Amino acid sequence: MSSVKIVEVGPRDGLQNEKTVVPTDIKMELIQRLVASGIQTIETTSFVSPKWVPQMADHEAVVKALPQVNNVHFPVLVPNQKGLENALACKVKDIAVFAAASETFSQKNINRSISESLQEFSAITHQAVQRGLRVRGYVSCTLGCPYEGHVPITQVVKVASALYRSGCDEISLGDTIGVGTPKTAYAMLKAVASEIPIEKLAVHFHDTYGQALANVFACLELGVKTVDSSVAGLGGCPYAKGATGNVATEEVVYMLQGSGIHTGVNLDKLIQAGQFICQYLNISNKSKVAIAMLAKNS
Ligand code: HMG
Ligand code: MG
Repeated sequence: MSSVKIVEVGPRDGLQNEKTVVPTDIKMELIQRLVASGIQTIETTSFVSPKWVPQMADHEAVVKALPQVNNVHFPVLVPNQKGLENALACKVKDIAVFAAASETFSQKNINRSISESLQEFSAITHQAVQRGLRVRGYVSCTLGCPYEGHVPITQVVKVASALYRSGCDEISLGDTIGVGTPKTAYAMLKAVASEIPIEKLAVHFHDTYGQALANVFACLELGVKTVDSSVAGLGGCPYAKGATGNVATEEVVYMLQGSGIHTGVNLDKLIQAGQFICQYLNISNKSKVAIAMLAKNS
């Protein structure tokens, strides 16, 4: 494999879970710094209800302030028809819908059953595709659920296939609570890849049990070419108690560069972007690569 696409989810998956509601201008500075580091896909916000996730309430202001940069995509999460209409009014070009492989998580996260959500997401995807938008489909709880525990792989394949059939251009497989291991992640991806081409799949690991980077490596062995990650390891899900951040983008970039795989990302600039947001939030940087390289250069 010669290159991997990084999907940076820090401004959305990361900041949605911080106690501090980050002001729009700080989010914009973070996004600008991520663009400057060379990342070409940055998930910026969610058009969700501000009552459910107040951290993303400024979605309209964020989208309107995005820089106009060629070849950089700024997807936003859309949970329902209202979210789609608001996102379209802001002229977004990339959206992401988010279903789950666990019934209870689906109810807690979006107040819909899996089948209700797939029906609504199919209609949303259809409208978005007709308008020339690109749609990513997430499947949460692919390796375990905070409420139900074990999630059968057959259920993951079913939900991922339904999203793909409805017109999603890319399917991201989320280990929302970070309980997977390289072996379970490999088996899950292999099963989904038997129904959906591997080039259309992305992996999205949270690092709650410290397995995320190993899981990414295992999935690279199956040929996955898109990896979601979060600068400085920010993140979590407000509806998955105890889940920590995504695999740090710095860790993924360092591992790929060290394996001769191109990412197009400047690691030093990326680390500075991570430091910027950690200093603002007054939290420690969760990326070991960032900590090591900052110490080396100090
Ligand atoms: P609901 O309460 O069932 O919605 O929530 P409703 O249709 O009954 O409407 C209730 C109120 O919300 C109304 O306002 C609506 O107008 C408003 P009121 O009349 O009470 O003043 N409303 C909205 N406002 C703004 N934007 C909207 C919207 N929709 C309704 N789009 C809803 C349903 C889906 C809205 C809610 O459950 C929600 O916002 N959930 C989002 C939860 C979320 O963002 N979770 C985190 C993202 S998922 C994740 O992190 C996992 C992932 O990273 C992958 C992984 O790790 O596995 C992607
Ligand atoms: Mg996530």
